[in-house]
Amino acid sequence: MTSNKIAIFGAGYVGLTTAVLLANSNNKVTLIETNPSRLKVLRAGKSFFYEQGIDELLGQALRNKSLVLTDDSIPILGSQDIIFSCVGTPSNADGSCNLAYVFSVAKTIAEHAKPETVFVQKSTVPVGTGGKTDIIFKSFGNNLHYVSNPEFLREGTAVQDSLWFDRVVVGGDNKRANQKVLDLYRSIESNRNRLAAISGLSEVPDIVSKYILTNRNSAELIKVTANAFLALKISFANSIAKLADHSGADVNEVMDAVGADSRIGRAFLDAGRGYGGGCFPKDVSGLISSAEEYGVDMPIMAAATSVNDSMPGYIANKAQEAMGTLTGKRVAVLGLSFKAGTSDARKSPGVKLANILHSSGAIVTTYDPHANGEAKEELKRSIAVCKSTADAVKGVDAVFITTSWPEFLGIDLKELAGKMSGSLFYDAVNCFNPSDVEQSGLQYLGVGRS
Ligand code: UGA
Repeated sequence: MTSNKIAIFGAGYVGLTTAVLLANSNNKVTLIETNPSRLKVLRAGKSFFYEQGIDELLGQALRNKSLVLTDDSIPILGSQDIIFSCVGTPSNADGSCNLAYVFSVAKTIAEHAKPETVFVQKSTVPVGTGGKTDIIFKSFGNNLHYVSNPEFLREGTAVQDSLWFDRVVVGGDNKRANQKVLDLYRSIESNRNRLAAISGLSEVPDIVSKYILTNRNSAELIKVTANAFLALKISFANSIAKLADHSGADVNEVMDAVGADSRIGRAFLDAGRGYGGGCFPKDVSGLISSAEEYGVDMPIMAAATSVNDSMPGYIANKAQEAMGTLTGKRVAVLGLSFKAGTSDARKSPGVKLANILHSSGAIVTTYDPHANGEAKEELKRSIAVCKSTADAVKGVDAVFITTSWPEFLGIDLKELAGKMSGSLFYDAVNCFNPSDVEQSGLQYLGVGRS
């Protein structure tokens, strides 16, 4: 495998993970990050977010000098074989996808990259973005090859997902460029075990990776469709959970049996406090809005959003029914990241629930093993962010578990009951066995587990 000179714009979850894996797979990588505080942390060999295995891969690549960090792309762009765009695509106020960073990077590259450079779009973008980017390239008279290569890694398991990937999707007009991108992933696949050893990952899932070549627009649409469908599954499970609450069924049992049908599958049917994070909420609203641009209505995705938005309030209402009132009640929310395994608190359901409980008159304490710092800004000011579970639960009337961090799943329920003054245990991720909770003297509530 020949060594490529690769530049990557953006050191977020996708850009940094891609950079450290390619730099440890016999490529010379330059990672461009314009945020000075992020760059400072990266230069010290640390990632600015919590992700298993990333620091080890970053340290190794910096020591090998196969990874260079910079905030100035101009001097190096003319000598690269492949340039990745992994910049953010936040939501606009109307829910559409903001492509300002994407187009700004495309202009810089069009101006400074040598002709025939392969441009890889890894940011999540609406279908049609490749066509618009090609117009930018042509306006600079540069013959660059646009390849859409969407990313499917999940936060919290970014390295594992990138080593044992289900599929790589590549879509572009130039065969040689497509091939070059596919070869990069083949090199990661063939270096899998070595990369896993560097990152300290031991689990080796049994997976056959698929390499999928499509047209550019299909590749773009595949990414948002996958996220939208997963979001749809979660909102569907949450709708059934509400019915289960009213009808005496247990949504976990229902979904275990429904998901046993191989046509349906069990994944992403876990009911609870709903989905959050930097991807699903943004990608669902982006899909609705990009469909509108093409004159297509997507009521199914609007319904998924509305079910999702309702879940934290639904949980707070059920708690209120169980306790009589929330006013003056002391409650602890355990879990502020949008899911376990990450410090990311963007659109976190735990944060949303804590704020709703606070607005309903409760005195709220919170704790997260890794997301306290990130969540603080999103929490109402008088919500206390504690240093430990023990601090957060002391003397409370109710505890809400909002992420499945191992620390919470392994909680000693008897000890917890002893620390609380009330007895409501609200399992908002449906991960506990209700009878274990009740045997500890606590009252169990789940989502759809009447
Ligand atoms: C998601 C996709 O799973 C990735 O494939 C994709 O690459 C990524 O978005 C992206 O676009 O960058 P991520 O947002 O990291 O990954 O997290 P997920 O594990 O998908 O979880 C999203 C949310 O759904 C979390 O809040 C999680 O707790 C919730 N969830 C997940 C449920 O409520 N129920 C489930 O059954 C599964």
